[in-house]
Amino acid sequence: MATRVEDDRSLVLAGLHRIVLSGEDREAVLEDILSSTDNQNRATLSFMLYGCLRHWHYIEPRLCEFIKGKPLPLDLNILLVFFLFQAFVMDSVPVYAARAEMIKRIPRKFKGLKGVLDGVFQNFLRKYPVLPEFPILPVWWKKALEKQAGGEFVNHLLSRWNKTPEVYVFSKPSASDEFSFEKLGQMDKADRAQRIEMGDLICDPASYLAAYLLKPAHGEKIMDLCAAPGNKSVALLQICPTIHLTSVEIQESRAKILEKRLKGRASVVMADALEVLSQAQEGSVDAILLDAPCSAWGTALLHPEYLLHKEENQGESRIQKELLRKAYRALRNGGRLIYSVCTFCEAETVELGQNFLNEFGGFLVNRNLTCPAPLQWHPSGPGYLLLPHEEGSTIFWYMSLTKQLTGGVE
Ligand SMILES: C[S@@+](CC[C@H](N)C(=O)[O-])C[C@H]1O[C@@H](n2cnc3c(N)ncnc32)[C@H](O)[C@@H]1O
Repeated sequence: MATRVEDDRSLVLAGLHRIVLSGEDREAVLEDILSSTDNQNRATLSFMLYGCLRHWHYIEPRLCEFIKGKPLPLDLNILLVFFLFQAFVMDSVPVYAARAEMIKRIPRKFKGLKGVLDGVFQNFLRKYPVLPEFPILPVWWKKALEKQAGGEFVNHLLSRWNKTPEVYVFSKPSASDEFSFEKLGQMDKADRAQRIEMGDLICDPASYLAAYLLKPAHGEKIMDLCAAPGNKSVALLQICPTIHLTSVEIQESRAKILEKRLKGRASVVMADALEVLSQAQEGSVDAILLDAPCSAWGTALLHPEYLLHKEENQGESRIQKELLRKAYRALRNGGRLIYSVCTFCEAETVELGQNFLNEFGGFLVNRNLTCPAPLQWHPSGPGYLLLPHEEGSTIFWYMSLTKQLTGGVE
C-alpha cells in the first residue's frame, strides 16, 4: 500500500513539473499519468493534480513570507505546494507524513535547504491552518475582471468554484431562431458518450452562443477557424445542417478529433488558419467564426494552470490581429464575422477590437444583439463580455461584425 501511494505521488509530482515548469497541457499530462496506473487510483490522481493547481495561487505566493533572502527555486515551490496541499485536504495523509515525505523528496542538489523547507512547511500551516473556502486566484486576475465586471460578480463567480459544473445538452437541429438547451445535472461517462454518439452536443452554453450569433443559413459558405475540438462547428451544423462548412485546425491530434466529431459533414482542414485565409479567394466567404487562440483567463475555474504564466499568456494578440485582417479580406461584402475569445484580457478584447476597427473602417459593428436567457452579458467596447453567472463556467468576449464596403457592390 505504501508503495502504491508513493508511486502515485511520484507520478503527480512529475506531472506538476511538466505543467508548471514546461507549460505542458494539463489534460495531456493527466492522460499520461492515468495510462501508467490502474483504474483504482484514477480519481485520487486527478484530484491531487487538479487540487494542487487549483490551490496554487493561494499557497505559492505566500511561501516567500517564510523565507529570508532569495526566493526558493520553482521546483522546490512545487514540492512545497504539493505536500502542503496533501496536509490540508487529504484525510488519509497526516501532517507528519506529508512533511516526512516532502523532506525525503528534496532533490540531492538542494539537500542543503532541508531545514529551510521544513521551516516553511511548518510555519505555513501554523500561520494558515486552513485553506480558504474558495480558492484564491491571482490578484491581477481578480483586479482585471473587477475592472470589467464589478467586484460583486467576481465574488459570485468564485463562490461557484466548489460546485460541479452543470451539464448542458444541445440536441435540436432546428431551423428556428431559438436558443434552447436541456440542463441535465450530473451525467455519467457512458450516458455522455451515448448522447454524443447520437449527435447531441454537450457544451457550455456560452460556447454555443458564438455559433448562434453567426446565424448560419442554408447554402452559405462558412469557415470555422481554430475549430478543434469542434463544439462550435457541431453547433453551426445543428443550427443549419445545409451550410458548406470548412473547419480549420492547426494541430494534427486535434484535427483528428474534429474529423471524428464532424463525420464528413464539414471539410476539415489541418493547417494554419492564416494560410487558409490567404489562399481563399478574396470576398468569397459568407461568414467566419473566429474562435481565436487566447490567454483563456475566462476558463480559470476549470483551468487554473492557464494563469501560471501570465506574461506568456498575454502574447497572443498579434496572431488574433493577423487572423482578423485576413478574415476581412476573405469575407464577401455583407459577410458576417464573429470574433470570440474565452478571456477578458483587454489587449485581446476591447483594445484589439477598437484598434482593428480604427484600421479597417469597412466593418459594421453589430451592437443591437440580444443575449438569450439565461446567459448575461455587458456591452464592452465594440463587443460584449459574457458573464455566465449560474449557467456556465467560462467567461467569453464576443464581437459581431458585418463587412461593409462603402459604396461597394457585392
Ligand atoms: C479556443 S480553441 C477552439 C475551440 C473550438 N472553437 C470549439 O469551440 O470547440 C483554439 C484552437 O485553435 C487552434 N489554433 C491555434 N492557432 C491556430 C491557427 N493559427 N490556425 C488554426 N488553428 C489554430 C488550437 O490548436 C486550438 O485547438
